Amino acid sequence: MIKGFIFDLDGVITDTAELHFAAWKELSDAMGWQFDRELNDSLRGISRMDSIKAIMDHNKVDLEPGQVGELAERKNKIYVDSLEGMTEQDYLPGARELLTHLRNEGFAVALGSSSKNAVKVLQRLNAIRYFDFIGDGNTVAKSKPAPDIFLYAAQQLKLPADQCLVIEDAEKGIDAARAGGFHCVGIGPEERVGHADLRFDSMGEATLFEVKSHFKDLF
Ligand code: BG6
Ligand code: MG
Repeated sequence: MIKGFIFDLDGVITDTAELHFAAWKELSDAMGWQFDRELNDSLRGISRMDSIKAIMDHNKVDLEPGQVGELAERKNKIYVDSLEGMTEQDYLPGARELLTHLRNEGFAVALGSSSKNAVKVLQRLNAIRYFDFIGDGNTVAKSKPAPDIFLYAAQQLKLPADQCLVIEDAEKGIDAARAGGFHCVGIGPEERVGHADLRFDSMGEATLFEVKSHFKDLF
């Protein structure tokens, strides 16, 4: 039986995936690095430091660890500044409705994000109240595609993995959910999240009704 839901944040609850893209693009342009949407999509779900390493690998750039850290910090500043204008209006369509519905039906709900800025984003959205537990980029050492953040969140909800459903927009996030033995819903195109148990193009389609209809035997 499914008793809990674990949500990714960026690209699931709100469109910060786009803000992460803009911030990496600004840094890459300043550095003369190539950076496009395809590369950005491969970074969805992975930590800030893993992301900058992947961008540098892609550009065949090698820098001192201290410099890499400074550049990641620079990207973060651009990203955090871009959160300034975020309000309660900035949920992805369908996300707030799903969270509300789950709370009303008594499901346990956790956040399982790789972002160290997750609490800040949830505060901007006034979304803290929907969660029994908030797992973010500070919670576990190994980021997605390792299953650690989801396993930790499930433990906090006092549920085994197979009683939880993970909602993710990232290829690496679905990898993480599967590696941890979770049921999972992918949000996005087939090429990115087609390996989820169930996939929707957007959050707007991911209603509790649709999810329940698919996982009939589990509700
Ligand atoms: C994930 C995003 O949720 O968080 C990634 O999908 C991002 O794009 C990662 O790099 C880390 O975020 P932050 O806010 O700690 O830099
Ligand atoms: Mg995401």
